[in-house]
Amino acid sequence: MATWLKKAVFYEIYPNSFLDTNGDGYGDFKGITSKLDYIKSLGCNAIWINPIYDSPFRDGGYDVRDFFKVSKRFGILDDFKELLKVAAKLEIRICLDLVPGHASEENPLFIKSASPIRNEYSDMFIWNKSPWELPDGYRFISGRYERNGNYLVNFFSTQPAINYGFYEITDPNWQLSYQDPRCLKQRNYLKQIIRYWFDLGVAGFRVDMADSLVKNDPDKVATIALWQEVLQEIKKDYSEHIFISEWSSPRAIKAGFDVDFILDHYHNFLNRLVRYEETGNHSVFDALGRGDAKKCFEVFIKWFQEIKDLGDIGIITCNHDTPRLGGFYSVPQLKIIYTTLFMLPGIPFLYYGDEIGMKYQKDLPSKECGFQRTGSRTPMQWNQNKHRGFSVADDIFLPVDTTSEIDVATQEDDPNSLLNVVRESLRFRASHEDILGKDFQFVKADRGLFSFKRHKLLVIVNPLQDPKTYRIKSAQKIIYQVNEATNENGLITLKPFSLVIISEE
Ligand code: GLC
Repeated sequence: MATWLKKAVFYEIYPNSFLDTNGDGYGDFKGITSKLDYIKSLGCNAIWINPIYDSPFRDGGYDVRDFFKVSKRFGILDDFKELLKVAAKLEIRICLDLVPGHASEENPLFIKSASPIRNEYSDMFIWNKSPWELPDGYRFISGRYERNGNYLVNFFSTQPAINYGFYEITDPNWQLSYQDPRCLKQRNYLKQIIRYWFDLGVAGFRVDMADSLVKNDPDKVATIALWQEVLQEIKKDYSEHIFISEWSSPRAIKAGFDVDFILDHYHNFLNRLVRYEETGNHSVFDALGRGDAKKCFEVFIKWFQEIKDLGDIGIITCNHDTPRLGGFYSVPQLKIIYTTLFMLPGIPFLYYGDEIGMKYQKDLPSKECGFQRTGSRTPMQWNQNKHRGFSVADDIFLPVDTTSEIDVATQEDDPNSLLNVVRESLRFRASHEDILGKDFQFVKADRGLFSFKRHKLLVIVNPLQDPKTYRIKSAQKIIYQVNEATNENGLITLKPFSLVIISEE
């Protein structure tokens, strides 16, 4: 396993929206390079950049036209290499998004596969044998190409599924086994893509829809086997490189991924912790204490126990598919939410702009098939200049939020800002082995307030709008706190929305 992962803290960048240096209205590689110092100052030592590849952007770049080329939108390959170089000097690792399950409908290999004349790419994508048949349970697109059949999509209709075969075959007329040499070819193609970017200096991949590769594989038996084979082979040559899956199941770690995200799926840990309102329930961070911390952490522990000896959980503040917490929670609440996330056993992923509390833009019209996700992809708010310092262009990728005063420059000077609390909490994390380790115990939930132990450190969180007390041994002391709390001979008073960390020694 990569040795650096234990101390890794990721910053996720949606490249369109980070910083535009050439005035075309889109973020670019040079923009990221110029902000590496800033990213480092947050306490992040790794970056995951959403797709940077050549693409018609019919799904924010997750529709890849050429897996070996960068999109002109972000600059040229030399700009990307420069980014890698400067990042390496600052000891920041750059990870990219790998999209193994589908390509763009404009990918030349798909267009070859759509030809009515058989060729070496005919089986690279999944086609059935008749334009008149739309098999149940599958999303096929018909009538767009001359090939005598329909193609299967993996996500949107612009994203044809790459053919890694089927586990359970129900119609041998068009389904190939995942072990068929015609499907194994796609694995080799995938390995080539991985090697290409690793050889350039990329440190790892976040793997898009990692569980989607083998079709009709309900228990993911063949998908797990596929990843085990691919990752084992790659890791023989690249032992310090990492793979982070978008899978959100302990199965991912068994398949050989180093890190797997807990995504915002209904009733799972992250959902119960901060977003449970969407299901008509209450989150653990509900200010009136109506959430259920005990149940929420039971869900976490079950997952964590299953994988902790083999890999890590990716703990996100948000991502490009999820509504930001900014706006839904107040700044004092965000401070304790992020700090709680950073103190959990797992690898933190800070989504750009979350460190300043950027708000989810609810009513924004969809752009590049972001749909409701568009509101989490707006430009980074750097300062009070035009478009909050994101770009000098008149027309920009998405409108920047100018309704709030939120920006980096303003928060830099305020020791109490969300930005500086994020820095402090990440600094605390980095300097405490107990937090970096894997020891985790839930201690108790008491009408809203909850506590957990990380080896010899006790983390107590008051998510409520009212003060709460907590008794500790008089010899114990507060070694870190967010928002206001006092300790009088072992009786801790946690003011509204506060968090303390107690040393047991
Ligand atoms: C993943 C990405 C999402 C994309 C989808 C299809 O869920 O995070 O943004 O639209 O896969 O590639």
